[in-house]
Amino acid sequence: MQEEHPRAPSDEVLAGQAVYNRLVLAGYDQFVLGLSCRLLWRCPKRHMLDNYHRNVGARHLEFGTGTGYFLDRCRFPARRPELTLVDLNPTVLRVSAARVARYEPAVVQADVLQPLPFDEGKLKTGHYDSAGANFLLHCLPGSWQEKGAVLANAAAALRPGGRVFGSTILSSGVQVSAAARRLMAVYNARGIFHNTDDDLAGLRWQLDKRFTDIRVTVRGCVALFEATNPVPESAGH
Ligand SMILES: C[S@@+](CC[C@H](N)C(=O)[O-])C[C@H]1O[C@@H](n2cnc3c(N)ncnc32)[C@H](O)[C@@H]1O
Repeated sequence: MQEEHPRAPSDEVLAGQAVYNRLVLAGYDQFVLGLSCRLLWRCPKRHMLDNYHRNVGARHLEFGTGTGYFLDRCRFPARRPELTLVDLNPTVLRVSAARVARYEPAVVQADVLQPLPFDEGKLKTGHYDSAGANFLLHCLPGSWQEKGAVLANAAAALRPGGRVFGSTILSSGVQVSAAARRLMAVYNARGIFHNTDDDLAGLRWQLDKRFTDIRVTVRGCVALFEATNPVPESAGH
């Protein structure tokens, strides 16, 4: 197999993660996950937590970890889950790893839009029971084809039958209130969001390319998704 070397992240990619400094992270749970989710995106955070409860496995890989709120609050199906955190922002990694320190997480600083450094020590292919990407895709620049790189990384990381899940804020194919549309425009102009072309059909298309048993639930302008990594046809025969 040809070796792929990660490129330096583009300015747009860097802008999408740079906003999460200590100050923003200190208010994130209350203002983003509390107020914005409920009042603007119209998807209270309990729906995302339910998504974790339905899908999180004992060996879990999390992309775009933020404050670690959901990892801290969710019930893992094991007392000592194996947890790996991937984010481009070192402050985010420090904050989220500290929050779930009881699970002794492994930490990987990487751009999820590029092939991840599998089999270089901390990340393994075909290994994880679940991969989470919550509120991540709308932060990433590019078309659905480019954002699909995250799902390709998840598919490579998951064991056959493993689960990918998460949520993302869409701008079309869903109901967006006038207030939500205004805030989205501000965030897109500042490079915090990159979701002006993100529609529901594109998300389904990218999931369909790689996974089976796909479930996408729309609440407000948030799409919650969950899907299974296909089991190779020969397995189990
Ligand atoms: C909106 S926050 C979501 C945090 C958390 N998953 C949640 O649901 O609250 C987006 C996260 O993705 C990370 N991120 C953004 N772009 C990234 C990239 N290209 N590669 C890896 N992480 C990225 C940010 O640093 C941040 O932690």
